Amino acid sequence: MPDNVLPAKIMPEMTDFLTRRRSTTALQGPGPSPAQIEEMLKIAARVPDHGKLAPWRFIVFDGEARSRVGAEIRAAYKFEDPDATDAKLDFEAEKFLRAPLIIAVISSLKDGKAPEWEQTLSAGAACFNLCLAANALGFGSKWLTEWFAYNATFAKALGLTDRERVAGFVYIGSVKTEPEERERPDVKAIVKHW
Ligand SMILES: Cc1cc2nc3c(=O)[nH]c(=O)nc-3n(C[C@H](O)[C@H](O)[C@H](O)COP(=O)(O)O)c2cc1C
Repeated sequence: MPDNVLPAKIMPEMTDFLTRRRSTTALQGPGPSPAQIEEMLKIAARVPDHGKLAPWRFIVFDGEARSRVGAEIRAAYKFEDPDATDAKLDFEAEKFLRAPLIIAVISSLKDGKAPEWEQTLSAGAACFNLCLAANALGFGSKWLTEWFAYNATFAKALGLTDRERVAGFVYIGSVKTEPEERERPDVKAIVKHW
């Protein structure tokens, strides 16, 4: 090994985990503790961020906040479809009850030298780092959007400004059953060595 480089820090546990990583549905309690949530958020905020703009923020929903935000999802749905049945509205209102903890990652564009596209990409990175942080602490996670991520009524209820958008809702909780493997792209087909 050349003597002008540091010894490589090989992390087989990490490569093994990343090679097999899967999103998880059927997330249950117990959810993360307040200290674990804080740790996850710290990791989520430690993403590549051109210009140190921190172009994202987080909204945490746990406990009964999940039902309170559910009422806003319900209202937004009813606004779009005034004829919706109570059963359909109840179904929508229960979306955040599918996991003990949901963290909304909000893309929050800032003035600065980094193009808006790069700021948006950084918000995506925050979503995925949050997923991985949850996994590292022993929880399952899944990055979802669904219709209400794109709904203006709901965005207003969340207090988003006109420079903010939902990048994702990250659902976090204990895993009931290991997810099955999912088909992956043929890497050779999507890589060109120049
Ligand atoms: C921006 C974004 C939004 C997503 N929204 C949804 C969604 O609304 N519903 C859904 O079933 N999967 C959604 N997914 C996909 C899941 O997060 C997940 O990647 C997929 O179920 C495959 O699982 P895997 O992560 O184990 O490959 C979204 C992914 C991304 C990147």
